[in-house]
Amino acid sequence: MTPAKNPLVAFGAGKVILLGEHSVVYGYPAIAGPLTIGVVARGMPSRSCVLDVPVTADAAQKRMMRKAFARAAKLVGEPKVKVTLEPQLPLSAGLGSSAALAVATSRVLLQAAGQAPTAKATARLAWEMEQEFHGTPSGVDHTTSAEEKLILYRRVQGPAGVTGRARELKSPRPVSVVVALAGARSPTKLTVGALRERQARWPERYKRLFGQVGRLVTDAAKAVEAGDLEGLGDAMNVNQGLLNALGLSSPALEDMVFRLRSLGALGAKFTGAGGDGGAVIGLFSEPEPVVARLTRDGVRCFASQLAGPRAQGDIP
Ligand code: PMV
Repeated sequence: MTPAKNPLVAFGAGKVILLGEHSVVYGYPAIAGPLTIGVVARGMPSRSCVLDVPVTADAAQKRMMRKAFARAAKLVGEPKVKVTLEPQLPLSAGLGSSAALAVATSRVLLQAAGQAPTAKATARLAWEMEQEFHGTPSGVDHTTSAEEKLILYRRVQGPAGVTGRARELKSPRPVSVVVALAGARSPTKLTVGALRERQARWPERYKRLFGQVGRLVTDAAKAVEAGDLEGLGDAMNVNQGLLNALGLSSPALEDMVFRLRSLGALGAKFTGAGGDGGAVIGLFSEPEPVVARLTRDGVRCFASQLAGPRAQGDIP
């Protein structure tokens, strides 16, 4: 297929990390699921291989996107395509916008280069882009985006470099979250870098906390598979406490966590890199009334089902 005859369109899903962000960078497990919103990439014929960056991105984000694009483009022989991005997600909020962008862009680049955009090929190329965005990504974001399933993920350091192992988690009950935005945030790279310095200085103390998060993730995976939403919610609450202990929370994030709990969340925590602000998730068996209430109160939010049986007529 050539872009000249068929404009190429591809989607990359955003993600939420249910439990295990940050410790996943150090080889501990995490659970993450795809959002129904993400980034759409369109490929049009062009004289060179070029990226049209979104107008909503700031100067630093645009620079990073161009660098990541150039890295991926080179690997597929720089097909003559102009890629335009349409983000449906807020950028840099903890919802995996960079991974969604990387997955959507990789799918277009692969097709423009005459290669099949299989989940494996897409994930491999998106991984290269994610390294430009994050420095030392765990791989959980782009794997969730490429697989579009709730997964239990672990970063593996092997002789051939870093890879990821993912297993789908199925739930007999719907696992639905309300995603609420709590202010602006610093880039993931900075928050991950600051934690890396703290853990290098006091390795034993931070290793103990990462280990605790890892055990919670294992418990939470069992709870998902048993349809035990109460158990999952409690693990999320304890994970939030540990994220705070790791120095990754803020007043804006804590306020939103407590707000979601006061609205009946079975569990609530921030999701993604955290730091100063960003996305907070609450686990609810009935998320829609909560979204209506928060929206009335001026909070930017939406609901997303991450796993489990869907009501008839729902978008899969
Ligand atoms: O905030 P986001 O969407 O960039 O997610 C980052 C997740 C981390 O665990 C903090 C980093 C990683 O590479 O897994």
